[in-house]
Amino acid sequence: MYNSIHNTVIIGKKVIYLPSCHSTNDIAAEIVQAGLFDEGTVVITDHQVNGRGQRGASWNAAPGENLTFSVILSPTFLTVANQFVLSQAVGLSVCAYYKQYIGDVRVKWPNDVYINKKKAVGILIENSVKGQSLNHSILGIGLNINQERFPDARATSLFLETGRKFNLQEEFVKIGQLIDRYYITIQSTSAIPDLQAEYLDNLHGYGVANKFLINGTMHDGIVTGVTQAGKMMVELTDTSETREFGLKEIQWVWD
Ligand code: BTN
Repeated sequence: MYNSIHNTVIIGKKVIYLPSCHSTNDIAAEIVQAGLFDEGTVVITDHQVNGRGQRGASWNAAPGENLTFSVILSPTFLTVANQFVLSQAVGLSVCAYYKQYIGDVRVKWPNDVYINKKKAVGILIENSVKGQSLNHSILGIGLNINQERFPDARATSLFLETGRKFNLQEEFVKIGQLIDRYYITIQSTSAIPDLQAEYLDNLHGYGVANKFLINGTMHDGIVTGVTQAGKMMVELTDTSETREFGLKEIQWVWD
């Protein structure tokens, strides 16, 4: 059971708790379709049986051990060209959430969050557009909290990193308050440069040598930034050229 979130302006004033559902993003989309909702409404479940991930993948989380929810927003203040700011804000909220408990937390472009080089969260943002601006946005977030085992060796949870178990209701309030704070921040255009600087400060691989797979070939490179459209800029050390990459155009090679 989850209650509404206190001390927020927008997020979680209304919380819809479903013990089990197919996908909180799909339920949120149905609510948006129906047309009557308050911005910031959260759909949260203990057991998501058909969770969806990025690029058509599925998202599996052990029932009752994690936070699995979607937030409905109306970020009409963002143009389509600026929509990556919302991803950055969500990534930074989650980063700030885990940093309360643990040191090595990084945003991995575009909006994953890794603890000690292992994935701790899944974020699926689904936007609808009206004219040049965003109309609605569904932030789907799966935070790994108390799960003890993962089939994927590069996944982790707060439990695995700290050895502690956490109260999910209390953690839900904390992440809701952080998303609220960052969402309010991006509504003021004057705050965007600072947010972007914070994103780079927390960005995995920023300014350091990494290996990447590009079109099946291994390259050495240094992440030098992120464009307004959300592409990652990498200086390829073999050719000394800086190129911009979309999600499907580059892969990290982990050491
Ligand atoms: C990823 O592939 O990393 C993104 C996973 C996103 C999972 C969350 S869990 C809550 C919300 N509902 C879904 O069906 N997916 C998102």
